[in-house]
Amino acid sequence: MEKVKVNTREKAYEIHIESGLFSKLPEVFKEKYSGKKIALVSDNNVYKIYGESFKAGLVKAGFEVTEIVFNAGEENKNISTLSQIYSVLAENFFTRSDIVVALGGGVTGDMAGLAAATFLRGMGFIQIPTTLLAMVDSSIGGKVAVDLPQGKNLVGAFYQPDAVYTDPQLLKTLPDLQFSDGMAELLKHGFIRDRNLFNTLILKDVINLEHEPESIAGLRSLLSDKMDYIIKESCIIKRDIVEQDVNDNGIRQLLNFGHTIGHAIERVQNYSGYTHGQAISIGMVIMTRLTEKMGLTKAGKSRIIENALKMHNLPVFDPALDIKSVTEAIKIDKKARSGSITIAYIEEIGQGKLLKLDIKDLEDKINDVYNDFAFTS
Ligand SMILES: NC(=O)c1ccc[n+]([C@@H]2O[C@H](COP(=O)([O-])OP(=O)(O)OC[C@H]3O[C@@H](n4cnc5c(N)ncnc54)[C@H](O)[C@@H]3O)[C@@H](O)[C@H]2O)c1
Repeated sequence: MEKVKVNTREKAYEIHIESGLFSKLPEVFKEKYSGKKIALVSDNNVYKIYGESFKAGLVKAGFEVTEIVFNAGEENKNISTLSQIYSVLAENFFTRSDIVVALGGGVTGDMAGLAAATFLRGMGFIQIPTTLLAMVDSSIGGKVAVDLPQGKNLVGAFYQPDAVYTDPQLLKTLPDLQFSDGMAELLKHGFIRDRNLFNTLILKDVINLEHEPESIAGLRSLLSDKMDYIIKESCIIKRDIVEQDVNDNGIRQLLNFGHTIGHAIERVQNYSGYTHGQAISIGMVIMTRLTEKMGLTKAGKSRIIENALKMHNLPVFDPALDIKSVTEAIKIDKKARSGSITIAYIEEIGQGKLLKLDIKDLEDKINDVYNDFAFTS
């Protein structure tokens, strides 16, 4: 089993990564959390595939388990679902020493985590991520939240889990679209911090030496025996950055590579167009073209990141994008209120940097790059 230790000011905990771990968890829980009641929070898709048997295993291991299953989807990551979770916890007399277990993707982890952080001013919290995005990103770092009609993640907290249990085999049932979405964040980690991880993700040796996979299914199969390593390395990258900046005021902004533009694209499309991974993919490409043009990124790197993203079925440009609305949306982003904005960019593959730019300057540069792109593609 791979273990990644996370030390934050509030708590130290471990991320356990092992293919096949999920089936052993009832026994692991018995050893570590015996005597606690478990609130098992999951969405209906995940619960249908994994929830019943997991609950049965926990009951067999002696736990009293209350399942809380909500309808899957970002549109349900809201106050109303959170309030239903609180009601079930209260009606079943959960105490501060009991635990909330999030079994699912980022939506489940964010919402269950906020419930755990706030019910009785804080309960135990365990994450069992089931999407690639949750395994390499949302389950690490302690950000928990729900959305408001006015915007995403507006009500939240920083609340670290007691442990994260990651079984890469759970990805077998994850649809391709969600797999590519997680791959966008994984590639981002490679771009900003780790050339070796990047080389693994683009299957550098395999593709050069043997054959080029034609389908996402082919890619997934070629990557499958590398997933424990990939997830571990990616967790370490996020862990190292988060440990230095738990409250997201400094170096953690590196993790926002591609996100300033990506979030704006999602907002302009009212969260019903590109997925998050697709939007940040376009964001990373525009940003790298922009910094390459400014001489901050080594020549030719934007081409490399475009090819890597394309290989993983992610979009790199969209001529139909309303780029003026996108730059307007950046201006109203909370990070841009002071007239300037800190952006993350890459100097080289594996070397992310931060740069403060005047917001008007950024707007002009994005328009420039976008028009160049439209002209040449
Ligand atoms: N807390 C953080 O630091 C952080 C970071 C990044 C993203 N997020 C949040 O994460 C959320 C997105 O997370 P997500 O992409 O995991 O979405 P998600 O939780 O909605 O899961 C995506 C879909 O995949 C299904 N699914 C999950 N696991 C599955 C499996 N193993 N097999 C089959 N189907 C499965 C789900 O039912 C859902 O339909 C957003 O709300 C975002 O704000 C949080």
